[in-house]
Amino acid sequence: MMTRLLLPTACLTVTTILTLEGMGIPPLAQTRTVWDGVYSEAQAHRGQELYVEICGFCHRDDLSGGGSAAGAPTLRGPFFTTQWHGRPLVDLFVRVGTTMPQHNPDSLLPQAVIDIISFLLRENKMPPGQTELPPVLDPLREIVFTSRPD
Ligand code: HEC
Repeated sequence: MMTRLLLPTACLTVTTILTLEGMGIPPLAQTRTVWDGVYSEAQAHRGQELYVEICGFCHRDDLSGGGSAAGAPTLRGPFFTTQWHGRPLVDLFVRVGTTMPQHNPDSLLPQAVIDIISFLLRENKMPPGQTELPPVLDPLREIVFTSRPD
């Protein structure tokens, strides 16, 4: 059922919102990290369903990686978290939204991308909170990805 998630060309993908919202804006006050309950459990659950459908055959349903001929990397544990340590969460959002799934990049709705990212956070032990991550660039610039809570 992948077609349900793919877009007619007129829809907004992450590349489109990058263009619309503008790039190169300096980060705002970075007060929160991914350890501060920035996504909700319901969002991560939605993200898991999308992930299994769209990403799992390359990155594996348990995020251990290695499922594609190109050797998709693991998306959990230090190998993954140290790649993104210290960077705003918007970087991961843009990376996934514009380059994944590798065989059909920039095909996902921003909402699907951010839901999948919330699942990646949960699988990397970052705790859920009361609010959802929004599929919008500016708020994601204010949340820092760190590999550990402290
Ligand atoms: C066809 C196989 C394939 C699919 C499907 C796929 N990926 Fe990937 N992914 C790769 C490969 C290969 C790489 C490493 C090369 C590259 O960066 O393009 C990668 C790299 C990544 C990275 C960077 C890893 C890091 O440590 O920084 C992330 C994040 C990622 N993928 C997330 C996803 C998500 C989320 C999905 C589903 C929306 C997805 N991928 C679907 C093959 C795939």
